[in-house]
Amino acid sequence: MTATLTQPQTVAPLTVAEAIETRRSIRKFVQEPMNQGDLHEILRLASLAPSAWNAQTWRFAVVQTAEIKEQLQAAAYGQPQIGSAPAVIVVYSDMEDTLNTVEETAHPGMGDEGRAGQRKTFDGAFGGQDVAQRGQWGLSQANIAFGFLMLAARGLGYDTVPMLGFDPAKVREVLGLPEHVQFAGLLPIGKRAEDGFPHHRHGVERVTKFY
Ligand SMILES: Cc1cc2nc3c(=O)[nH]c(=O)nc-3n(C[C@H](O)[C@H](O)[C@H](O)COP(=O)(O)O)c2cc1C
Repeated sequence: MTATLTQPQTVAPLTVAEAIETRRSIRKFVQEPMNQGDLHEILRLASLAPSAWNAQTWRFAVVQTAEIKEQLQAAAYGQPQIGSAPAVIVVYSDMEDTLNTVEETAHPGMGDEGRAGQRKTFDGAFGGQDVAQRGQWGLSQANIAFGFLMLAARGLGYDTVPMLGFDPAKVREVLGLPEHVQFAGLLPIGKRAEDGFPHHRHGVERVTKFY
């Protein structure tokens, strides 16, 4: 029996530690479409990432059509993992959209007062900044969701490779995104068709000071 593409698969989710241990960059994928239920669940889990003032600056563009993947691959200097993956999730931040609709991010339990407070907080913090400056802040929030996305994918049995090797202007053009958006990265996603490299990392002592 083959699983449908819309119902989530019933693989047992990995623990967080298992997802972290077994995640590695995968650049060759099994040639089968993404299960759309799983894809949606991975995006939902990534959306649970925290952000300062709950700003949720991240936005996702999911590319599954061969023609647009080809254009993304060209924008990424021909890196073949884009064409190999059944889907590519483009993670970007849109700080201008965040600011224009900031009331949406106030917790509903806080009512009108909460929405007014959220507006005041953001106008106060970012009103004096230019688009590039506040865009940088927005990106720092979107990067958190980018990390969550990789682990959510692995936790549900999928593999990914984070990518920053691309021309942002070209990716904006391919996806019809406005000039001000900033990219956390491209994330080809699917099932691994290679093992990837074993982890090579600094030890805890090398990167940590205990006080
Ligand atoms: C922000 C970021 C950008 C990256 N860009 C690329 C890329 O453009 N192409 C690529 O093949 N790998 C890219 N990588 C993958 C890294 O090379 C890889 O994560 C690193 O070597 C550690 O290996 P691992 O992911 O298998 O643990 C990127 C990784 C990160 C986190």
